[in-house]
Amino acid sequence: MCVLQLNGWGGDQGGLMSAYEDAFLVGAAINRNQVAGGEPKALNLAREHFNSVTPENDLKWEKVHPEPGQFNFGPGDRLVALAEANDWALIGHTLVWHQQTPDWVFQDEDGNLASAELLRERLKDHILTVAGRYRGKIHGWDVANEIFNDDGSWRESLWYTILGEEYLYLAFEYAQKADPSAELYYNDYNLWKASKREAVINLVQALRKRGLRIDAVGFQGHYGLDYPDLKDLEGSLKAMKMAKIPTMVTELDISLLPFPNADQRGADISLNFELQAHLNPYPDGLPPEMEKQLTKRYVSLFKLFNKYQDNMTRVTFWGITDNTTWRNNWPVHGRTDYPLLFDRNYQAKPAVEEVLKLSRN
Ligand code: G3I
Repeated sequence: MCVLQLNGWGGDQGGLMSAYEDAFLVGAAINRNQVAGGEPKALNLAREHFNSVTPENDLKWEKVHPEPGQFNFGPGDRLVALAEANDWALIGHTLVWHQQTPDWVFQDEDGNLASAELLRERLKDHILTVAGRYRGKIHGWDVANEIFNDDGSWRESLWYTILGEEYLYLAFEYAQKADPSAELYYNDYNLWKASKREAVINLVQALRKRGLRIDAVGFQGHYGLDYPDLKDLEGSLKAMKMAKIPTMVTELDISLLPFPNADQRGADISLNFELQAHLNPYPDGLPPEMEKQLTKRYVSLFKLFNKYQDNMTRVTFWGITDNTTWRNNWPVHGRTDYPLLFDRNYQAKPAVEEVLKLSRN
């Protein structure tokens, strides 16, 4: 385990994945540059600490299928090869989302709204082609992402406008057909909210009633120091367990920066507030007191994950280090945030040691 010391955390008991191997997979989102070898220190951390990876962007519709009939499989193929070489459980993210889907998908050749028949055909072609290409190589697919509003109603996306609820059932049907060995997931943020959690439980039951397989629900986990209240999160983990729905934490990060509007906390990527100094309090480094708070928050979260580990299959961080986290640019562009377990110099934060200790309790 001397490699670990090279990366600075100085422990001697193995990385996060080894510590939690009897509990759940431990993963991270990985970006195109990292896969291409542009950030070798980040890859080293991934090899030491994670046994699962999720492409941060490269399997989204706009990246992998930018034009009708045109697929860009290069980045995905390179990731599959890297995952195989490192024995990483690879997560496909994501087949159906209201974001990052090109406009042409929802239009006919005259630029009018596509018919239900045309959109159904496109959905089928996309899923059979993309999930079909990686058949047998993907551990699990985020089949659908963020289809509900926080109040539990269906999001009025173009998918929903044109196809109604049917699009969701079709997506699971096509995904199962394309890659029968891959696990199939529903993924969303703010699942600690009872209204949204209930909508997802109902959805899983509706899928099962139709004979469609869904293997787990992903809680994205874009959190802050003071939200969500862990009692709410526990309420949802417990409700899923009671409903016999395995859970995963799929995009964990803890922002240390002020959120401009508390009502909009979550992960709606269309939010964009103006950069102001008071919203970016730590541009030159994190004060020790804040570092302590981050550690404390990670410890509380992992205590909860440990408590529900018999119904939890994976905990994935949304990124490897703070220098490339999306949190630096959301919901305010150009900030300096510190949400992950590894800092901008590829060093483990004090939270790593504490999270490792918890695994031994
Ligand atoms: O690749 C282009 C590049 O060619 C171009 O020069 C550059 C200019 O802005 O944009 C690049 O694309 C960006 C892409 O990330 C890759 O860096 C997009 O603009 C940017 O919008 C995109 O942001 C991603 C976001 O999803 C939207 O797809 C974030 O990196 C990614 O972390 C974030 O991840 C989402 C999950 O998929 C779903 N849950 C919420 C989570 C956080 O928003």
